[in-house]
Amino acid sequence: MSRIRHRSDRGRSALPRRIGTLVGAALLGGCVPQSTLWPSGAGADKIATLSWFLIITAGILYVIVLAVTFAAMLRNRRARDGERDTIDMTPGDTKFVAIGGAILPGLVLALVFVVGMSITGAFPAARPPRAQLTIHVTAHQWWWQADYDYPALQQRFSTANEIHIPVGVPVQLILTSSDVIHSFWVPRLQGKLDVIPGDTNDIRLLAKSPGLYRGQCAEFCGLQHAHMGLIVVADPAADFKTWATQQLAPSRPPRDSLALLGQRMFVGGPCALCHTVRGTPALGTVGPDLTHVGSRHTIAAGVMPNTLGSLEGWIANAQAIKPGALMPPNTQFTGLELRALATYVSSLK
Ligand code: CUA
Repeated sequence: MSRIRHRSDRGRSALPRRIGTLVGAALLGGCVPQSTLWPSGAGADKIATLSWFLIITAGILYVIVLAVTFAAMLRNRRARDGERDTIDMTPGDTKFVAIGGAILPGLVLALVFVVGMSITGAFPAARPPRAQLTIHVTAHQWWWQADYDYPALQQRFSTANEIHIPVGVPVQLILTSSDVIHSFWVPRLQGKLDVIPGDTNDIRLLAKSPGLYRGQCAEFCGLQHAHMGLIVVADPAADFKTWATQQLAPSRPPRDSLALLGQRMFVGGPCALCHTVRGTPALGTVGPDLTHVGSRHTIAAGVMPNTLGSLEGWIANAQAIKPGALMPPNTQFTGLELRALATYVSSLK
């Protein structure tokens, strides 16, 4: 994963979450983090709280069991060393077994069940917050398509592998797949949910602080399953509005001769058969919409940082980077042509 800067979290109070933050920051350095123990979303908060509750409860029980085991060993040893017949094992005495083996575990499991259900909000039927924005997410082998479903048709747009949402606003994601079963998972924001062809699933995201949140397909879906990442960008309301306005606009015309050459090659070459760049005759729908690909942090579904070098390598031979992806190799291009194509694609901000 590329090292991408993210803004720091605010509003942490609970100690476990602070520990999670420190551990997460130490382990991940500058990468876009995706730890469930470092939540920043309404759903992920509950999952992290439940995880800590289970970890701490299990830890306490583990220590108690170890203590009892050591006590028994010590007692056994003393009995062997001196008073031979002091081990109290009356045949038929099942009190200890009944309490330690059935009643105590029963009580602990009941406690875990009740606390677990109330933390996750499953006990009294939890009502998800009303969504103020709906995004249709379609999983493909191996990338994510995101269609912003605004009420007005002229407000709708499509993007890929990077989903912007406004901070503090409940967002509904309607998930479906174009091929096999995938699973949508952004660990810091929400639990995972299967993405099924021919069916839709509904997940809510509510980001509590601005920043980048890495997501990952969490269901084995073929050769490049591990390379099916995405980034959710949580923007303050004003930034989100600016972003959405910019995404809605058609692509910018090229500003220099190299980018112009790149555009000519893009529109007149194989690229346009699979990709859409709104504002040009390129209207392919097999691959991601590239109208504003230059504004994204990564390419190839989170595989590489979005740089000229990565773009050139990807265009020249995507199969060497992500074998099995639908993007064919383009070994026909010269170095200059690759640079022109990458310059054009990169200028699509
Ligand atoms: Cu898609 Cu794994």
